[in-house]
Amino acid sequence: MKKFFLTSTGTGIGKTFVAQVLIQQLLKKKYSVRAIKPILTGFNKRNERSNDAGLLLNSMGLDISSENISSISPWTFKHPLSPDLAAFREGSRISLRELVGFCRQSYDADVVLIEGIGGIMVPLNQNNTVLDWIISLNAPVLLIVGSYLGTFSHTLTAIGMLKEKAVNIAGIIINESTNQPISSEETAEVISRFTKNIPIQVLPRCTTPEHASDLLPLINRYL
Ligand SMILES: Nc1ncnc2c1ncn2[C@@H]1O[C@H](COP(=O)(O)OP(=O)(O)OP(=O)(O)O)[C@@H](O)[C@H]1O
Ligand SMILES: [Mg+2]
Repeated sequence: MKKFFLTSTGTGIGKTFVAQVLIQQLLKKKYSVRAIKPILTGFNKRNERSNDAGLLLNSMGLDISSENISSISPWTFKHPLSPDLAAFREGSRISLRELVGFCRQSYDADVVLIEGIGGIMVPLNQNNTVLDWIISLNAPVLLIVGSYLGTFSHTLTAIGMLKEKAVNIAGIIINESTNQPISSEETAEVISRFTKNIPIQVLPRCTTPEHASDLLPLINRYL
């Protein structure tokens, strides 16, 4: 069983989309896959199918039932806020120890994809951020970034934080933004000048995850 942590420079950059792509491409190659989204905010009954848990379950070919949602997303909150605030509004608190314990469990799958929440410095509670979660888990990270104006600083800042904590970055995915001033390839080329040995791959926009370019080269060496 190999685990990967999917994180990004912020919210809405493409973590779930990349997870959906990886699930489909891995299943096609006959790997068994489990994707989890431990913390889900902005969750309600009406968006069950379209929220991250619903999308991941659908890609895994599983029913979008309450039981399956809570099995991959045990921490669900209705407020569309950062996890610390969403939990606080509901009178609870996310425990890093419990979160890491949940992610550390052994899954009956060749590959386990763990989708974080927001970007790497999102607060989980009063004291911890997603970065603490990543450090405690010690799984290789896939960093999903955009190609929008401003991505260089966001991306290099995120990489700097991860490197400072000696986190293993398995790869960077430049997920093409809807509004990009230069090509994704040029974005990749600039970022690669500062990141040296970290593999980088571009994911062009596509109509559905089935139509995405091959992302497996980024993780093949771990399988
Ligand atoms: N390469 C792509 N081609 C087409 N659509 C994409 C692509 N990447 C992301 N999207 C779309 O952009 C939106 C945001 O992506 P996604 O939900 O994966 O971001 P996220 O990082 O998981 O966000 P969150 O922080 O809410 O979990 C979604 O509607 C998704 O389908
Ligand atoms: Mg998501």
